[in-house]
Amino acid sequence: MKNVLGLVGKVAQLYGGLYYQRFSRDLNTLLICQGLGRVLRATRVSATDPGAMIRTALVGHYFNFLRHFEVLADCGFAVSCFAGKPDDVYHPSQPLAAFDPAQFDCVLVADDVAEERLYAEVAAKGARPIRIMRVVEAHIAVLKSMRFRGVVSCLNPYKQAVITAVAAVTDPGGIVVECGVYMGGTTIQMALLQRALGLKRRIYALDTFEGMPEPTASDYGGGMVYTAGMFADNRQGLVQSYYHKAGVEADIEIVPGLCQDTLPAIIARTPHVAFAFLDTDQYAGTKGGLDMIGPVLRSGDVIVVDDTSVRGVDTAIREALARDAGLVRAPVLMNFDLVFRH
Ligand SMILES: C[S@@+](CC[C@H](N)C(=O)[O-])C[C@H]1O[C@@H](n2cnc3c(N)ncnc32)[C@H](O)[C@@H]1O
Repeated sequence: MKNVLGLVGKVAQLYGGLYYQRFSRDLNTLLICQGLGRVLRATRVSATDPGAMIRTALVGHYFNFLRHFEVLADCGFAVSCFAGKPDDVYHPSQPLAAFDPAQFDCVLVADDVAEERLYAEVAAKGARPIRIMRVVEAHIAVLKSMRFRGVVSCLNPYKQAVITAVAAVTDPGGIVVECGVYMGGTTIQMALLQRALGLKRRIYALDTFEGMPEPTASDYGGGMVYTAGMFADNRQGLVQSYYHKAGVEADIEIVPGLCQDTLPAIIARTPHVAFAFLDTDQYAGTKGGLDMIGPVLRSGDVIVVDDTSVRGVDTAIREALARDAGLVRAPVLMNFDLVFRH
């Protein structure tokens, strides 16, 4: 009897697990579509044509993905289909020969069987396609692995989806920089994701590893102020042990100290930051990040800034934009903005 109950329990667990997987795949597909939509609209469309949709070529036929077609439209993608089923009444497709990358802001590839071939053919036409379902699968696997290991991230699932979207659409070269890592949750997310997507950018994890420094006068004047000593339990050795346990220690360079002091040497060595995440919650750290990374930012690179409604953070961004007319600021979520070069 005990064995039978045990077996029933195991089957129920397995079934529940599979159901959760399916549910989680649907939910994360929506979150990733939304994240990609927000990032691509901000960086590739709105800066030149506010209100326009993202002109999108969807190459291939991935039946499960097509169930999310309305979601793509809802997330700002105006989709034309290629290399799918020409007779599909809902999404009639054109032959791949008709695809001209110059006509599109973004190219998504998703196919049940011929994805590799289609990806290669589209890339040969000069596009940098996004394998959207590979990004979704990677995102799910990364979040699952983080949950399994008890990794602490300060970001909510919307923000995590934007981080994944930015990691997936930015230049595969250069480096990735995170200013303010706390327990390293987002560094681990970015490192695991890069591995899953075959990206080899070195990741720099910058923190005092003694928590928040003293705020400056620019941090005061309204709203939340992050005061000295907050997040002070993030000892360097502890964060390093989390990177080690997650299996990504080799991809990450830990740089202790104030990021405004440590960034110059990093930028001098590699003056190409494809993706920066500024999450210091204060004026001085945000200003340091923007002062150093702003000037080397190329078109296509993205700085994500968290907690942008915090006075000091907002002030640092406004000042950076006032100094450099080529920089653009685009809010993509509550408290979460992109800064990039137009
Ligand atoms: C909100 S936490 C970072 C959360 C982390 N990015 C995440 O997603 O899980 C803020 C971190 O910024 C660090 N910090 C604040 N000002 C800094 C500065 N000027 N230089 C380096 N680190 C700083 C603090 O020590 C703290 O660990």
